[in-house]
Formats: sequence, structure tokens, C-alpha cells
Amino acid sequence: MKDRLGRDVTYLRLSVTELCNLRCRYCMPEAGVCRKRHADMMTQEELLTAVRAAASLGIRKVRITGGEPLVKRSLLPICRGVAATPGIEEVCLTTNGTLLPPLAAELRAAGVRRVNLSLDTLEAEKYAWITRRGVLSDALAGLEAALRAGFDQVKVNAVLIGGFNENEIENLANLTKDAPLDVRFIELMPMESGTLWGPAAFCSGDLVLERLPQLRPEPAGSGVARLYRLPGARGRVGLIRPVSSHFCAACSRIRLTADGRLKPCLHTPAEYPIRGLGEAGMARRMAAAILDKPPCHGVLSAGSVSAAGRSMNEIGG
Ligand code: 5AD
Ligand code: SF4
Repeated sequence: MKDRLGRDVTYLRLSVTELCNLRCRYCMPEAGVCRKRHADMMTQEELLTAVRAAASLGIRKVRITGGEPLVKRSLLPICRGVAATPGIEEVCLTTNGTLLPPLAAELRAAGVRRVNLSLDTLEAEKYAWITRRGVLSDALAGLEAALRAGFDQVKVNAVLIGGFNENEIENLANLTKDAPLDVRFIELMPMESGTLWGPAAFCSGDLVLERLPQLRPEPAGSGVARLYRLPGARGRVGLIRPVSSHFCAACSRIRLTADGRLKPCLHTPAEYPIRGLGEAGMARRMAAAILDKPPCHGVLSAGSVSAAGRSMNEIGG
């Protein structure tokens, strides 16, 4: 379905839990989330009903997110159900990867076609610091498991953070040399937890191009990343620049939070609750949300805060 500006909304980001086994400093408070009551969260059945409703409006691609989706016990049946929904052509998953090794093959078999794995640093101490409790070797094992499991595509997401990983741009990009994976650098968005960082932590995507002058542009993909390639590399380097360059004109996505609220844009407070509505009612409310999709996410600068009103783990990165 098209929104008021003619943007075709075909992509649903489906958060299946707010919980996570890590506490990345830009995403979650140290204490974790205030755990909502189980009864306030979408059930597996409601999630699948919502996906059917979304498909009836023209959603073709579903990305399963969290929090960390791999902490959700019913993840595999959810993935199977989403993949089996008529109209859904592609199921993808975003994960921190640390719990992936025993699950990668089953997720592939459940119909997940592509996996995005978050990895902001290749240095063990820095990984432990940024995630507050993660172990780098677990994430790297997750990446290997993803590559072995035969997904159509594996991407590594690295949030660019000034004073933290700007000296690792080259090392992270070099992952694309030998393995068939894309590395995408994402500008830090000033979300609630992200605001702790202050302007010095914001690092423009331009820095990647300065540090890696050998990058050559690649044809644009369907997503929001600008793509490049290192000479002879198997994978591509992507830049996702929500702050320094707006891609809202090409935005095709809506989001559903784990507690059943549809968000037409990550950075607006507008939410459309869809619980208890049934498939037809959900579809009507979703259509209203799509029509309400804002033209642009407004100023997101290093000194401002997103108007999202929730932290990333709650919305679904
Ligand atoms: N800014 C940019 N990216 C973020 N993510 C989480 N919080 C932020 C933020 N404030 C990223 C994660 C993950 C993806 C789901 O969203 O690193 O790769
Ligand atoms: Fe968990 Fe991902 Fe948030 Fe890190 S960024 S705390 S891994 S949900």
C-alpha cells in the first residue's frame, strides 16, 4: 500500500521481544528494560495474525528484530509462520549473533533468508565495554555460524562511534575482503540511551570514505545503504546515514513493537495499538498508520534527541 506521498510500504520490521542478553550503551540502559508483563506482549498467534494483516496491505518483506530475537523461545515457529504467510517473499533477521551458533541452521531451515549481525568492534575489551556484558568470541562464532548456514546474505552492522571505533573502520571493512559478507557503517542516532554520548560521539559516514579512499561505488541496492567495494573484495561496504543525509523519501518500512504498537516512523512518537483487533481490524489500523507515515524524520543531529520516545531495544532496531 502507498502512503500519502506515494511511497510504497512493503517492509515490516517485526520486534518479537524487548529483552536482550546484552546492554549496548547506545541502545539499552544498564539495568535492562523494565520488564513488561508477559500478558502485555504480543503472543505468537497475534504476531502471525499481524503479519497476515500486513501482507494483505502489500508488505512483502519482514525483518524479525528485538531486543534480541534469539532470546525469544518461540522464535523458530514465528519464523516458520512468517515465511509461510502468503505474500511474504522474504524473511530476514537482525541479531547480535552471540546466541546464533546452535540456531543458525534451524533458522535457515525455518525460512530466514538473510541475517544482519551487530558488531561494532573487533577488539575483545572494547566489545565487552560497549555491550556491557558480551564476549567478542561469541559474536564472532555467531558470524561464522551465519556464514556456514548458507543464508542468501550476511551483513555486519557497525554503529560508528567517535572516540570508540573510528580507528577500526579499516579493520571492520576488511572483513569484506575474504568472506562473502557486507559491512555496513551506521551513524549513531541520538536515541534515549544514545544521547548519553554527546556530540563528540557522532561520527559522519563521510569519515569512512576519507579513511578508505580506495572504496569504489557499487550499484544501489533496495535498502537505505549506499554501497561501495574495496578492490577485489568479496563483499561490499555500506553506509547508512540517518543523521547526515535523509533517506526518508525512499523509506518503505513500518515497525511493529513487541507490545503490539505499529510505528509508521522510527523517530516519531505516533503509535497505533493493534492488539485485540483480529486480522481485519489490524489491517485497518495498519492502513491508517501507513497513511500517517510522516514525510521525514525531522532533524536528527548530534545535539538533538529522537522524538521516538522509546529506546531502540523497545522499538526494534
Ligand atoms: N544508533 C544507530 N544504530 C543503533 N542500533 C541500535 N541503537 C542504535 C543507535 N542509537 C543498531 C544496532 C543494530 C541495529 C538493529 O540497530 O547496532 O545493528
Ligand atoms: Fe541488544 Fe542489539 Fe540493543 Fe545491543 S543493540 S543491547 S545487542 S538489542
